[in-house]
Amino acid sequence: MNTGKYTCLEIFARGAGAEGRVRVVSEKYGKVEKEAGDGYYAWLKFSLEPWEDYEISCESCEVSFCYLSGNRDILEAGVLFLERDGESGVFAAADRAGWYDHPLREAYHFSPWKNWSNDPNGLCWFQGYYHMFYQQNPHGQEWSDMYWGHAVSRDLVHWRHLPIALAPGQEILESGGELIGGAFSGCAAAREDEVFFYLTRHREASRGDGEMVEQQWMTRSRDMLHFTEEKCVIAQKPAGASCDFRDPKVLEIGDTWYMVLGSALDGRGAILLYESEDMENWRYVHPLLVEEKADIRCFECPDFMELDGKYLAIGAFMGHQDACGRHQMSRYYVGSWKDKRLAVESEGWFDFGSNCYAMQSFAHQGRRICIGWVFDLYGEHIVYENGACGSMTIPRELHIKNGRLYMTPVEEIRRLEGETIYRGGGENAEVRHIKGNAYRAEITCRENVFFNILLGEDEGKSISLVNDREGLRIVTKGVKSEGICFRADVEQVRKLEIFMDRRMVEVYVNDGEAAGTKIFYNTSKEGCFVLRAKEPDNIEGVCVGLMGSIWG
Ligand code: FRU
Repeated sequence: MNTGKYTCLEIFARGAGAEGRVRVVSEKYGKVEKEAGDGYYAWLKFSLEPWEDYEISCESCEVSFCYLSGNRDILEAGVLFLERDGESGVFAAADRAGWYDHPLREAYHFSPWKNWSNDPNGLCWFQGYYHMFYQQNPHGQEWSDMYWGHAVSRDLVHWRHLPIALAPGQEILESGGELIGGAFSGCAAAREDEVFFYLTRHREASRGDGEMVEQQWMTRSRDMLHFTEEKCVIAQKPAGASCDFRDPKVLEIGDTWYMVLGSALDGRGAILLYESEDMENWRYVHPLLVEEKADIRCFECPDFMELDGKYLAIGAFMGHQDACGRHQMSRYYVGSWKDKRLAVESEGWFDFGSNCYAMQSFAHQGRRICIGWVFDLYGEHIVYENGACGSMTIPRELHIKNGRLYMTPVEEIRRLEGETIYRGGGENAEVRHIKGNAYRAEITCRENVFFNILLGEDEGKSISLVNDREGLRIVTKGVKSEGICFRADVEQVRKLEIFMDRRMVEVYVNDGEAAGTKIFYNTSKEGCFVLRAKEPDNIEGVCVGLMGSIWG
């Protein structure tokens, strides 16, 4: 392998036995060997010369994730992933576009190179780039000890992978599975030429018989690649707070910095409020809000912001099932900021499809943008070699109108629009064999039309969007979420924007009045869009166009 412009090799390896090691050899510079910890994952970093040939070999160890970094243009070009050939054992650069070109990978929704990801973290714009960190397990397709993955974008559409930013503490990695936890969710706050990061460090015994410790930590960065030594800023939870005490999100109101944290107080889901003048010393104020009605274990990943003259809090309901049978919905609360509490005036569900969790927002140039984690809440993930579990929604622009949260996909996503494959109106539409199964459909209606739109079909499984007397909803068949009513809380449907992306779909209703995300694994390389309306005359227009990939 020739290093080209790269000067660092990063390998995530697990030793199997005391002899586990990774060896990197070049004719000119000789051999460097690093031990892969026996039974635990080590993050091995090798400094390499650019434009040199190296041979990588592994002994008694398993490599799960591997890339070249250290390139000068890393913020533009990202890292270069290496994959190991199963037969020869040789590591070689993988082709990015080809890697993502798979029916079970999204074409234009962000997902990691492979393996598990969850919540978006540390979203911000800094020195010309949008940064997205996210919860990641580089070692497998299931949740495990948490790292912070990192990606960067100029336009919120095309992302490039950057080196993993944060790792679980050494005591967790070296505990041989006895301790679990790691770098849990958190946020970023850019201040002049520095970015402050806040995160939860979590530690508990895997047997579940010990104390669960969650503390809030901070670190800073000036280049988004190197981070200062972490400092614990909140070590103890306030009286009455449950063991769930995590996911800091920081915002500025006036001259004061505030932090919200997800927790429960005396058995009720609560968003806790802290304040600080210097971003380092934090004082507990009181709860920003307590959820009195719903039966939830705690709030996770709360967010709080000023928006369109109101204040908006959003939080994910851990351990909750709603009246429709939907799991772990997120709820939003609109109100005013009174005595450092949110005086709630109206509220609603964040995403009616319920495969969207742990959203996080940030502000840039007057826009409030959020990204949610597309979460396989119903156990529908299909594991396959080099697959990924977890992806992100299209970045959404948030607004409040008449006390209601509106969400629309950022306009930049339209840059991916390709060939129009159907244009019509006043009639039913049947478009089949859609190559690549990545498309955008827009439907406008003269009045509230009853319809059934088939969005995907695969070996006895299907997903449809239905509007009838029971309202607008996503209906799945032949999959684990069958029977659950994914209903949008809208009175009528006048406009739909549907983003089908291979194994998932996002639906935006009436220019943002509701948004719904639903996973649907479709092993076929071709998609479909079949619209049957009760009164097709009232369908004003239908347009279906292909969407390009963000990885090309
Ligand atoms: C939400 C969550 C967070 C936590 C993280 C751990 O999905 O459970 O509360 O910080 O994921 O990965």
